[in-house]
Amino acid sequence: MTSVPFCSLKYAHDQVKSEVEKAIDGVYKRGQFILGTEVEAFEEEYAAYSGARYGVGVASGLDALTLSLRLLGIGAGDEVVVPAHTYIATWLAISQVGATIVPVDAGQDMLLDLKKVEGAITTHTKAILPVHLYGAVCNMTLLTEMATRHELKIIEDNAQGQGAYWKDSMTGSIGNCNATSFYPTKNLGALGDGGAITTNDKQLYEKALVLRNYGSTDRFINPIQGFNSRLDELQAAILRVKLKKLTKWNEKRKEVAQTYFNEMKGVGDIILPPQTEGSVFHLFVIRTKQREALRSFLFQKGIGTMVHYPVPPHLQGAYTALNFKKGDFPISENLAETVLSLPMWPGLTEEQVAWVVEQVKSFFAR
Ligand SMILES: Cc1ncc(COP(=O)(O)O)c(C=O)c1O
Repeated sequence: MTSVPFCSLKYAHDQVKSEVEKAIDGVYKRGQFILGTEVEAFEEEYAAYSGARYGVGVASGLDALTLSLRLLGIGAGDEVVVPAHTYIATWLAISQVGATIVPVDAGQDMLLDLKKVEGAITTHTKAILPVHLYGAVCNMTLLTEMATRHELKIIEDNAQGQGAYWKDSMTGSIGNCNATSFYPTKNLGALGDGGAITTNDKQLYEKALVLRNYGSTDRFINPIQGFNSRLDELQAAILRVKLKKLTKWNEKRKEVAQTYFNEMKGVGDIILPPQTEGSVFHLFVIRTKQREALRSFLFQKGIGTMVHYPVPPHLQGAYTALNFKKGDFPISENLAETVLSLPMWPGLTEEQVAWVVEQVKSFFAR
């Protein structure tokens, strides 16, 4: 039996160990731990990687989303269109600025259903918040057209899409103000929490620098009420090392995905994820009605899996006050019941991937 953890950071971290240790040591010796040269350099490098003009490091992906909404002036009385099928953080950011969540069901590609977006737009709508969920890419051509037609802002939730692209543009460079997360298991992960805002708008960039740092323009001068949401100098130094490997690690993910696609076509009742160009496979999410049985079968064979996500935000206790009920977003609810994330990380060996494929096939052959 081959052991296949659902996710392991060991392969990636072994590759950068000595460089990361050197980077940490450098910060330690310089003794500047908040908003120093590492954060500044990382912001430039991450923005360049993302094809955006500017980057601003913040404390988490949730903060990157929340600050993006604030930067665009979105608050109470404003409506934000968001996928019903996403991680709850996307919704929480909208709640945090006091705006109104307007969920739209997922399409068969598991992303925001663009056919349903226009029906959700009202005179109060201020923004659309697409999520490049699982590292798959939303159709940004259609979304941009829609946003332009209705004079709406776009905020890309690129927490799971670092390195992904839509046509000629990297995700995180298309919306007005975009958010990503450096949670350790993300395609680009820190050794702790972290996030970033990317934008092409100089004014938003300058405002973001102030907003994330107590609203301070100069030391102890605070023209606006801001937040303490800064990316740590240590995390920035680590992320700079890891960023150099991101393209290679994403390629590895794509190779694993390609094998899954080739080998699992037509197996049992499995629905494979869409094979969109530009996806970076943060997760490889299949669907099956026999999810729980498959999951425990794979577990017995030493294969780790996860469910992203078992309860959609509209049915979470956190959102009972919004009075959504089962049946409101049927496709998202069906996804919650059928999705299964297979092992996906750079460093999975051919033997491990073959074992996953073999065991999935043998489950359906029983
Ligand atoms: C789609 C999505 N949005 C937002 C977030 C929030 O990021 P963080 O955990 O860094 O706050 C995450 C990850 O956790 C995510 O997967």
